[in-house]
Amino acid sequence: MSKNPKHFLTMEEFSYKELGRLLVLAAKMKKTPAKYQKVLNEQCLAMIFDKSSTRTRVSFDVGMTQLGGKALLLRGDELQLGRGEPISDTAKVLSRYVQGIMIRTFAHKMVEELAEHSSVPVINGLTDTHHPCQVLADLQTILESFKKLKGLQMVYVGDGNNMAHSLMIGAAKTGMHCKIVCPAGYQPQTSLLSFAQREGGKNGARIEVTQKVQGSVKGADVVYTDVWTSMGQEAESKKRLNDFQGFQVNEELMAESPKAIFLHCLPAHRGEEVSAGVMDGKRSRVWDQAENRLHAQKALLATLMAK
Ligand code: CP
Ligand code: NVA
Repeated sequence: MSKNPKHFLTMEEFSYKELGRLLVLAAKMKKTPAKYQKVLNEQCLAMIFDKSSTRTRVSFDVGMTQLGGKALLLRGDELQLGRGEPISDTAKVLSRYVQGIMIRTFAHKMVEELAEHSSVPVINGLTDTHHPCQVLADLQTILESFKKLKGLQMVYVGDGNNMAHSLMIGAAKTGMHCKIVCPAGYQPQTSLLSFAQREGGKNGARIEVTQKVQGSVKGADVVYTDVWTSMGQEAESKKRLNDFQGFQVNEELMAESPKAIFLHCLPAHRGEEVSAGVMDGKRSRVWDQAENRLHAQKALLATLMAK
């Protein structure tokens, strides 16, 4: 057990170089998975889920198995955590049993607290504010299409949510320009935008926010969107449906940049944030993107947990 394990909570933890190394490892693991079957021999990852999941849950579970380890699925409401045991005590106890903890929950503070008291690496599998594991897979997918990240232009159209935050930081870290196109009142958090802009400045990446949809995709290499109503915001869904009118990624918007690929973290709502034609069209890379969750996270698990 380490006193200072490396955690992965926001994408801020890795430098440009470290991210590059991780993505190279992810590509190798995708190409020759058999070479990595013992990397996490007999190690165990606890996975705490307070929210639904298909991709995160399955890719981490399968990923641990493929690396020679095991994943334990723990639903937050079935742990003593759900009956009031402090997250700090949970962290200390789990650290005595497992070699890594992955958590998907609501408040980002909860993950920070878990990490603070854990002596094993903690991985953020999505909070209301960040979704860094998704961005690792996104970067791998973009690399596969363009063979580089630096200097590319990504345009994210939609809610300034957890995905927008992690994409801005991921782009800034890797020297990719990133434009967030969102309605008034749905901008990314100012402090995270400032951080991404500072970080982007160091790596030659321009990080910007606009409310103007028309013309926003011109010159884009990657067009990205996410749901208008995230998990935990269901009560606002009617208002959001209204507020996001005009922010759909459809054929007309994609026509502004014929070279652009389309990405979506999934699950998708065809007819809302994306038209069915774009989602299932030739320029969509969403299934490769979903597959890459497995490879990118295996590289992450190996980087954080291998002895
Ligand atoms: N993209 C993503 O995190 O999917 P799940 O919610 O299915 O895990
Ligand atoms: N913004 C979405 C991402 C799902 C992977 C949500 O938080 O529900």
